[in-house]
Amino acid sequence: MSLVTVITGGSGGLGEELAYCAAKSGRKIVLVARSADKMKAIAERIVTLGAPVPECVALDLTDPQSGAALAEVLKQKNLKVFELINNAGYGLSGPVERIDPADQLGIVDLNIRMLTDLTLRFLPEIIENKGGVMNLASTAAFQPGPNMAIYYASKAYVLSFSEAIWFELRGRARVTCLCPGPVPTGFAARASKRGNLVLMKFSRTSADFVAARGWDRFQRGQRVVVPGLLNEISAMFAPLTPKPLVLWLTAKISR
Ligand SMILES: NC(=O)c1ccc[n+]([C@@H]2O[C@H](COP(=O)([O-])OP(=O)(O)OC[C@H]3O[C@@H](n4cnc5c(N)ncnc54)[C@H](OP(=O)(O)O)[C@@H]3O)[C@@H](O)[C@H]2O)c1
Repeated sequence: MSLVTVITGGSGGLGEELAYCAAKSGRKIVLVARSADKMKAIAERIVTLGAPVPECVALDLTDPQSGAALAEVLKQKNLKVFELINNAGYGLSGPVERIDPADQLGIVDLNIRMLTDLTLRFLPEIIENKGGVMNLASTAAFQPGPNMAIYYASKAYVLSFSEAIWFELRGRARVTCLCPGPVPTGFAARASKRGNLVLMKFSRTSADFVAARGWDRFQRGQRVVVPGLLNEISAMFAPLTPKPLVLWLTAKISR
């Protein structure tokens, strides 16, 4: 039996960088995403870092059956979850009534439902092995987000859920909610038909910086991590700022 670090959304962006951090710490990694070819290339790079050969599991995590499918693969390979990084996620920009409802519900399925499913499913073995869960939220978690309404709401859920279980599990398992600001990854291209978002102009943090900070704080069991000073300030002041101003500003930059 081997203990593993499972990283969802491990085929690129922050998930890829988190995988390199875990590899440098000597973890055996399980990458989960839809793109098998991209995960294979990342797995090959990880081996060159001297880490054990990663497992790659190609699944669409919006499928409600995919949590059980992942558990079955791990069971077949005699792998137990030590750490779970719920990183897979996406957002869509635009007014709610103009975006395909099925695409918007996919955000709920992935960012909320599957994150919760995998956490509940693997928590017993994570507790047994004194491991941890890291959930990817965003600075979007601290405020409502017109023009990306469902994405912002999904990340508010992730933050609330993570902080609550951090408290419930203290002393038994680590729980960290990583809340990045804008980071140049594949996120913006998927979120916007134009292939970019205005808020990316405010990006001051790279994916490798965010992943390294998140991984380090996760190892220490920090409850919430907001990488970058400007992002920290924005997360701190958003809940204190008059709501009409926050709504107006967020609507402007979420396009
Ligand atoms: N970039 C930012 O500005 C930013 C800021 C704050 C928070 N975040 C959060 O950080 C996390 C990672 O995002 P990123 O920036 O690294 O974006 P990204 O480059 O688009 O990566 C998203 C990852 O999620 C996977 N994924 C997407 N849909 C999936 C599905 N249906 N089933 C399985 N895997 C799926 C993708 O793999 P496949 O396409 O191969 O499935 C990919 O590996 C997300 O939760 C995002 O909300 C990002």
